[in-house]
Amino acid sequence: MKKLLISSSIVAMLFAGQYDITGVREAPLTAGSQNLPQIQYNKTAPVPGQVKKYKKSFVTAPPMIPHDIENMVPIKIGKNECLGCHMPQTAKAMGITSIPKDHFVDNFDKNKKTPRIAGSRYNCTQCHAPQTTLDPVVENKFKSLRK
Ligand code: HEC
Ligand code: HEC
Repeated sequence: MKKLLISSSIVAMLFAGQYDITGVREAPLTAGSQNLPQIQYNKTAPVPGQVKKYKKSFVTAPPMIPHDIENMVPIKIGKNECLGCHMPQTAKAMGITSIPKDHFVDNFDKNKKTPRIAGSRYNCTQCHAPQTTLDPVVENKFKSLRK
């Protein structure tokens, strides 16, 4: 019995230790979405239509968003304002860079072409990020391949 007690308390200690580990958000790893850092988007970026595109860091990089995206995020089911300007037909008419063809290919269904934006591309800001000035928790030492 004593042995069992000792071993179970060791297990408890191990688990307690494991769950106490804190990540950069200074909350236990099991804490759900508590203490997620608030992302401050660059509110000084100009509105769409008054921007220059950024140079890409490498050929296949998703281009960064050069304009303000206030009130456009978070993107939700049924609320994606990016589509309002960047869907090919509208974009063409307005002279805006269109969402490329590969965003209409469903990689999860035999690369079938879809008339609607592919599900895997719906959440634009997962890949396309705006630029901002911030104090990063983890420093990024990436250097562009472009000179
Ligand atoms: C009111 C219209 C409008 C809305 C809404 C809009 N954009 Fe834009 N977007 C533009 C314009 C105009 C440009 C700059 C010129 C261009 O690329 O045609 C641009 C540029 C971009 C670029 C750069 C393209 C490149 O090739 O460098 C990306 C990426 C982008 N937008 C993504 C987004 C995302 C993601 C959203 C939603 C969060 C969004 N846009 C919402 C009009 C809009
Ligand atoms: C899974 C990542 C991913 C998601 C999600 C995504 N994109 Fe892209 N996007 C890319 C990549 C990568 C490129 C660059 C493609 C290349 O150069 O080969 C790109 C290119 C673009 C371009 C530039 C096209 C050009 O001709 O230069 C626009 C505009 C764009 N995306 C808009 C959007 C919008 C709007 C959404 C949301 C509806 C979106 N993207 C969602 C990865 C993504």
